Amino acid sequence: MNGFHLKNNRWYSDGVALSQIAKKAGTPCYVYSLPAFEAKYMEVDQAYRSVPHLVAYSIKTNDNLSVIHALGKLGSGTDVVSGGELFKARKAGIPGNKIIFAGVAKTDAEIAYALKENIRYFNVESIPEISAINSVAKKMGKTAPIAIRFNPNIDALTHHFISTGKKENKFGIFLGDLDEVMHTVRKSTSVHWTGVHAHIGSQMTQTGSLAKSARVVEQIVLKLRQEGFPIYDVNLGGGYGIDYNGEKPPKASQYASVVMPVIKRLKAGLILELGRFISGNSGVLLTRVVFVKKSGKKTFYIVDAGMGDLIRPALYEAYHRISRAEGPQKPVQTADVVGPICESTDFFAKNRRLPEAKRGDLMVIFSAGAYGSVMGSTYNSRPLSPEVVTRGSRFAVARRRQTREDLVRLEKFVL
Ligand code: LLP
Repeated sequence: MNGFHLKNNRWYSDGVALSQIAKKAGTPCYVYSLPAFEAKYMEVDQAYRSVPHLVAYSIKTNDNLSVIHALGKLGSGTDVVSGGELFKARKAGIPGNKIIFAGVAKTDAEIAYALKENIRYFNVESIPEISAINSVAKKMGKTAPIAIRFNPNIDALTHHFISTGKKENKFGIFLGDLDEVMHTVRKSTSVHWTGVHAHIGSQMTQTGSLAKSARVVEQIVLKLRQEGFPIYDVNLGGGYGIDYNGEKPPKASQYASVVMPVIKRLKAGLILELGRFISGNSGVLLTRVVFVKKSGKKTFYIVDAGMGDLIRPALYEAYHRISRAEGPQKPVQTADVVGPICESTDFFAKNRRLPEAKRGDLMVIFSAGAYGSVMGSTYNSRPLSPEVVTRGSRFAVARRRQTREDLVRLEKFVL
C-alpha cells in the first residue's frame, strides 16, 4: 500500500483529498502519508524478523521530524550522514544506540558530537578516518564503536550517478587495503571494531548485486574473525528500488532471501540502512498549473513547482509519474511539464502523454517522498515548500512554507 489512491477521479492521501490539502497549504506543497511510511518500514522489519536486525532509516531521503518520529515509534533507528542529520534524529526522539553515522568527510566536531550522543557506531570510509575517530575518542576518554565500509567493486546496475560500490567511487575502503586497515585498528586503542559495511548503490531493481555484495562481506567477516576482530554487525546498506515508472522491483522479502542466508551463517546482527524503499512512494508533490503555453507544435504545462522543489529530473533525468489531482485522468495531450526557474533543466516531464490541463489545475507529481524536499533549494529566491502529513482523515502542516523574510534572515548588510 502506498497511501495514495484515486477515487471518483480525485487523488487522496489516506482519507484526505489532495485538493483539500492544496487549498489549506497552498502550492507547491509536499504531502506525506505517515501510514504509507509505516507500512513500508513494517514490510522490511517483517522480512527480516528471523534474524536480529535494526532498520536504520536513511533520513537523507526524507528528514521530516514527524516522519522520523513516526518510524521511531515502530522501533526504527536512523542512518545519518552529518551532524545536522544526527541533530534531527535526536530531536525526533531516536535514541543514540539506534543511530549509525556514515559519510566520507566526518569532521572532528561531528565525531565528538556523535560520541557525546553515544551512537551505535560509525561507518568508517577511509583509513585516515580511523585515526581521526581514535584521537577524538581518546581525548574524550571514550572508546568509539566502528564498522568499516568496504568498496566491493560491484556494479549495482543502476543510474551511474547513484552507484556507490565501484572502485572508481569515493565511498568505502579498497578491499586490497584490508591488511592496512587491520594494522591501523590494532594500534588505535580508542576504537572498537564491531561491524562491516557495504552499500553499493541506490534504486537497485534486482537482487543479484546485493547477493554478490553479501557474499563479499561474508568473506571479509570470516577473515576478520580469524584475525581476532569480534565482528558482529553486518550492514549491507540500502538501495532497494521502488516503482517510478512500471519497474517491478523485488519485495523486501525477496531482497531478504539473498541476505538472510549470509547473516544466519555468520550468526551476525543485520543493520539495514534503507531510505527510498520506505519513503519514495510515501510522498507526492502538489503543484498548480500557472500557464499552459503553446509554442509551435509543443505544449508546456508551466507549473509553480520547480527544480528547487524536486531536482531529480534535472539531475538524473529521473521519471516521476504526473497526473491531475482531480478530473479526468486519461492522457490525451502530449506536453512538457516545466517549472518557473530560469534553467532548461527545470522540468518534470518531457513529451509526456498527460491529461488535459488548464491554468489553475492542480497536478500531482508522484514518488516524491525520497530525495525530494531534502534536496530542495531556494534558487531564484523561491521559498522552500511546506510539508504536510496525513493519517486517516486528518492532515497537518508538519513544516511550514518558508516566507520571503526567511529568505533574508541569515543575511545582513556589510562593508
Ligand atoms: N546508505 C548509504 C551509505 C547511502 O549512501 C545511501 C544513499 C543509502 C544508505 C540510502 O539509499 P536508498 O535506500 O535510499 O537507496 N539522490 C539520489 C540518490 C542518492 C543516494 C545516496 N545514498 C536520487 O535521488 O536518486
